[in-house]
Amino acid sequence: MDAAYWPLFGLKIRTPRLELRLPTDAEIPALVEVARDIHTTGDVPFSSGWNSLPEPEYTSSFLQFHWDKRASLKSSSWDLPLAAFVDDEPVGQQSVNATEFPTLGVVETGSWLTRSAQGRGIGTEMRAAVLHFAFEGLGAVEALSAARVSNGSSLGVSAKLGYELNGLRRFAFSDGIADEQLLRLRREVWEEQRREDIELIGLDGALQQLGLVEDGETQSE
Ligand SMILES: CC(C)(COP(=O)(O)OP(=O)(O)OC[C@H]1O[C@@H](n2cnc3c(N)ncnc32)[C@H](O)[C@@H]1OP(=O)(O)O)[C@@H](O)C(=O)NCCC(=O)NCCS
Repeated sequence: MDAAYWPLFGLKIRTPRLELRLPTDAEIPALVEVARDIHTTGDVPFSSGWNSLPEPEYTSSFLQFHWDKRASLKSSSWDLPLAAFVDDEPVGQQSVNATEFPTLGVVETGSWLTRSAQGRGIGTEMRAAVLHFAFEGLGAVEALSAARVSNGSSLGVSAKLGYELNGLRRFAFSDGIADEQLLRLRREVWEEQRREDIELIGLDGALQQLGLVEDGETQSE
């Protein structure tokens, strides 16, 4: 699909280590494959067991997930399941979503990496990338995240990027109820660690498609 018809396909968030972008239909099958191996032991990090479904449900629900996010996108509620590419190979997903963003200025994020890509700083890099898009690109005032209390890597990423603990809630993970740690990163804290080496390519088209540019307004105004 051409960015001329779906501007968000032109959005690329590029760091020295990786690129985040919406996967095209041609790129989704490679993502389907890497998502087969996210976690093998220990507590399940997700509310749904989407990545351990048997075939053909696994593949069809993966495709439907991406198509659903496109089909239901509107300015008052959107969810961008950005794929993370290292050397142009997909290694995971860094999603960012918001409800009533123009009023609230709040985004939420979620992520996963294929197991062979975990524990090497890529999760931190892709979260830093999507935070740059949210704060620098969209003008967010805060970013929220959440992780099972036993999820050391996800909580480790949030801690390194300056999130503050924001309470616990009981949450239904796919293998049972457990406490989930809520996290919040305020804009002022992000500004103290703002990076200069993250590029936002295709931002104007993304802002327009997300309803964040008034008619006739340009980014230089
Ligand atoms: C969560 C995830 C995206 C993080 O990405 P990652 O590349 O593995 O994480 P990073 O290597 O960038 O950073 C993890 C940090 O947490 C730290 N960490 C890991 N386990 C920890 C623990 N039990 N306690 C404290 N810190 C821990 C690591 O030491 C590292 O910090 P360091 O770089 O200062 O050493 C990835 O591990 C993943 O996909 N996990 C499975 C799916 C998942 O849990 N998704 C999130 C759902 S909320």
